[in-house]
This record gives sequence, structure tokens and C-alpha cells, in this order.
Amino acid sequence: MQEEIKIPRHIAFIMDGNGRWAKKRLLPRKVGHREGVSALRRMVDECEKAGVEMVSFYAFSTENWTRPQEEIDALFKMVKEFADNHLGEYVKRGFRIMFMGDLSKLPRETVESLKKIILSAKDNKGMIVNIALNYGGRDEILHAVNRILSEGIREVDMQTLSDCMYTGGLPDPDVIVRSSGEKRLSNFMLWQAAYAELIFVDDYWPDFDAKIFRKILEEYSKRDRRYGNVRRIG
Ligand code: FPP
Repeated sequence: MQEEIKIPRHIAFIMDGNGRWAKKRLLPRKVGHREGVSALRRMVDECEKAGVEMVSFYAFSTENWTRPQEEIDALFKMVKEFADNHLGEYVKRGFRIMFMGDLSKLPRETVESLKKIILSAKDNKGMIVNIALNYGGRDEILHAVNRILSEGIREVDMQTLSDCMYTGGLPDPDVIVRSSGEKRLSNFMLWQAAYAELIFVDDYWPDFDAKIFRKILEEYSKRDRRYGNVRRIG
């Protein structure tokens, strides 16, 4: 019997395995990242088709600065090209576009392209496409605490802290998917991950396609989300 497919409101992807995908084909790592951008675009299309409200992607972490400068430069060049060549189409499709992380450390020309997009998408009401750049979960929590202190707030509850995260006011991820068989969060959405289902897929990120997306939805649909409550009977 066909199981009912549940659609998560918010799905988040830890895009891993671009380097290994390239290595397996004796190609430079940056080719893996380029294919990774195509996979990201495929997942955006699948999320839109499925009716997901928000999709997040971990594109560059606060720890990724230790990579060779050449790879860092190539990655930010790709982010700029992606903003210049593809995000305009996303704006036309009505998507809300956001970037979470400390953008002040990114190359100036990349930030300028991102700002243009943020501005042109500001009145959109469609699916939220959230891209984490120079993002770390611990860094985000510190950032939120410092914001609270700077506003002179003296008593903090869950809601206050939640509201001060980059994702303040938006739904937490229902499911976090990591590619390439690694089974860690690697400092991604630590606060928001509290009740997320975790799905680990063996395929490398550049191989993500409609078939893998479907399998993710099937796996998510089988999970019994209880939020600390008892199992539902019947
Ligand atoms: C992890 O693979 C991937 C990254 C650190 C970068 C992910 C970035 C992209 C897909 C491009 C981002 C661009 C846009 C437009 C948002 P890895 O390099 O760690 O792979 P490995 O573990 O196999 O070496």
C-alpha cells in the first residue's frame, strides 16, 4: 500500500561530498562545487513542486575559512555568479531570499550582488530560500546573546532567544538532510535543530536529484514525530 507522503514545512540541507564527487572523477574540487550549485538548484525546484515553505542550504561555514584560499575564492565567485545569474529568476518566481551568517567577512563584490537580490525580493511572499554563508550555529547563538545584551534585555525566555536567531520568526527545520554518508550536524542550526528529523544520505551532494528527494520525503513520512510526548495510539 502506498504510504501517505508528508511534506515538511522547512527542509534544510547540509551539502557535503562535492570534493569526493570530483576526486572520484579525477576533476578539480571546484568542479564538484560547480555541480553542487546545480544540485542546489534542482533541490529548490523539487521543494517548490512539493510545496515546502522554506528550504535552507549550508553553503559556507565559519570553519571553512581554513580551506585553501584558491578554493575559498572559487566558492565565493560561484556564490556571486549564482546571485547574478539565477537568483533574479527566483525573485520572479516569488521566492523570499535570505542569507544567514556573518556576511561582513565575504568579498565585497559578492556581498553587493547578494544585497541587490535581498532588496529586489523584499516584497515576495513565496517559498523562503535561505542560504547559510559564513554561518556557524554557535556563532549564531553568541550573536543572538550579544544582541539581547545590547538591547538591555535583562530577562530572556525561549521566545526572546529564538527571535534573535537569524531565522527569528520562521519555522524550525522539520528535517535536516546531510549528504555523503557523514552523520554529524557540523555546527549547523544548533538551536533550530532541537526537534528536527535527521536524514543521512550516502550519495554525494552533486548527485542529488528528484529521485533522491522523493526518497527523503518517503523516509521523513515514516518518522513518528512526538516532540517528547508519548506515542500516539490509533
Ligand atoms: C562540502 O563539500 C561543500 C561545501 C563546503 C560547499 C558547498 C557549496 C556549494 C554547493 C556551492 C555554494 C554555492 C552557492 C551558490 C550557494 P566538501 O568540499 O566538504 O566535500 P568533501 O567532504 O567531499 O571534500
